[in-house]
Amino acid sequence: MLKYIEKNRERFLNELFDLLRIPSVSADSNFKSDMLKAAEYVRDRISEAGADRAEIYETKGHPVVYGEKIIDPKLPTILIYGHYDVQPADPYELWNSPPFEPVIKNDRIYARGACDDKGQFYMHIKALETMLATNSLACNVKMMIEGEEEIGSSNLGAFVSEHKDMLKCDTILISDTSIIANDVPSIETGLRGLTYVEVEVVGANRDLHSGVYGGGVANPVNVLCEMIASLKDENGHITIPGFYSKVEELTPGQRAALNSAPFDLEEYKRDLGIEDIQGEVGYSTIERTSVRPTLDVNGIWGGYTGEGAKTVLPSKANAKISMRLVPNQTDEDTLELFTKHFESIAPASVKVTVTPHHGGLPYVTPTDSVEYKAAEMAMEESFGKKPIPTRGGGSIPIVALFEQELGRKSILMGFGLDIDALHSPNESYGLFNYYKGIETIPLFFKHYAKLKK
Ligand code: BES
Ligand code: MN
Ligand code: MN
Repeated sequence: MLKYIEKNRERFLNELFDLLRIPSVSADSNFKSDMLKAAEYVRDRISEAGADRAEIYETKGHPVVYGEKIIDPKLPTILIYGHYDVQPADPYELWNSPPFEPVIKNDRIYARGACDDKGQFYMHIKALETMLATNSLACNVKMMIEGEEEIGSSNLGAFVSEHKDMLKCDTILISDTSIIANDVPSIETGLRGLTYVEVEVVGANRDLHSGVYGGGVANPVNVLCEMIASLKDENGHITIPGFYSKVEELTPGQRAALNSAPFDLEEYKRDLGIEDIQGEVGYSTIERTSVRPTLDVNGIWGGYTGEGAKTVLPSKANAKISMRLVPNQTDEDTLELFTKHFESIAPASVKVTVTPHHGGLPYVTPTDSVEYKAAEMAMEESFGKKPIPTRGGGSIPIVALFEQELGRKSILMGFGLDIDALHSPNESYGLFNYYKGIETIPLFFKHYAKLKK
């Protein structure tokens, strides 16, 4: 198997490069035709790898690619999930090389989607090819690669519930998360959920002279800032009533285990160029970024932002606000709590509207399951070290839905690193990680098949 990967090393990389050249940005309708191009490319490579069938399924949004290789109905079936859509590459001027012209520098692939998630799901297609070519495929494989993860997977839930039979499987394997370091392998056993809203604060019926009216009429930008500032207290706790009522509190043992993972605060600060960190009092950085919920402004605008100074009281102000959720919060409840509270704190001098965007449920998976053990054994074999269980801070909305609709747990066997700069300019993915993934995935199949016997 390793020999086959070695022999095809260059082609495995060139094929990924061709995929990275397709700007499949799901959020921006200017790239709609590239979305289809990327889906077709993925379908054709799944087919070439040796699948029995590989097809494109239309949805109300961007298409889903589905393929399968059923070698023996009596063997366990693994469903691979990934996403071929990427985040917008903006701001382009901050990239050291164009985002859709992949290059290798210092043994890393630089391109939008290099790690999230093209580089990671493509490992599965190459792993499938490798297992088939070396006659070592030990499980049936189904692959579902979607095109709307980065915009909330809002059409995928319906697709999954309409195709439950087709997607029937024993477990789901996903590479769309990170490890601690290349010499510290780890497996994320949880993901945070998400509630995302846009708020608007409107004052007078027009922009006003800030001298003539200033001091006498509400300034929506000031009001919005005050409202947002009041959403957290001096300890970094979110003040929305009921926000924490369902939040899962970890036991002292669980907290100690979580905090025993290697973490270098000085290195963390140096990497980010910050003098100090901040966050909820009473919790470590690891906890704040994984098992605690958050509330953050993602963007805020209003009033005059052009050149020079214009004296004006803007008539409205807006912000995009996200909340990361932890078990047992739900996006629906949180949306309701936020909306009620935000409306209630608005002074009578303005009107406030809250518009929901996408959301998603949090997820956790135990470490004593067959699939976790298989992932642990696979990584231990390929990295030479037992992986550490961690809890991830990011979100993959479909994972909780898989559990609801298919009754199956997902294993998050990702190979990214924090330095990969997901969603940022100069996203990258290590060549080490790409090939390590291709090497580890067949080991998961091998161990999973054995353990299921
Ligand atoms: N792959 C990420 C999520 C991720 C990254 C999980 C690193 C754990 C570690 C995924 O593509 C992503 O960015 N998800 C979005 C979800 C949203 C758009 C609904 C997120 O977390 O912001
Ligand atoms: Mn992703
Ligand atoms: Mn992403």
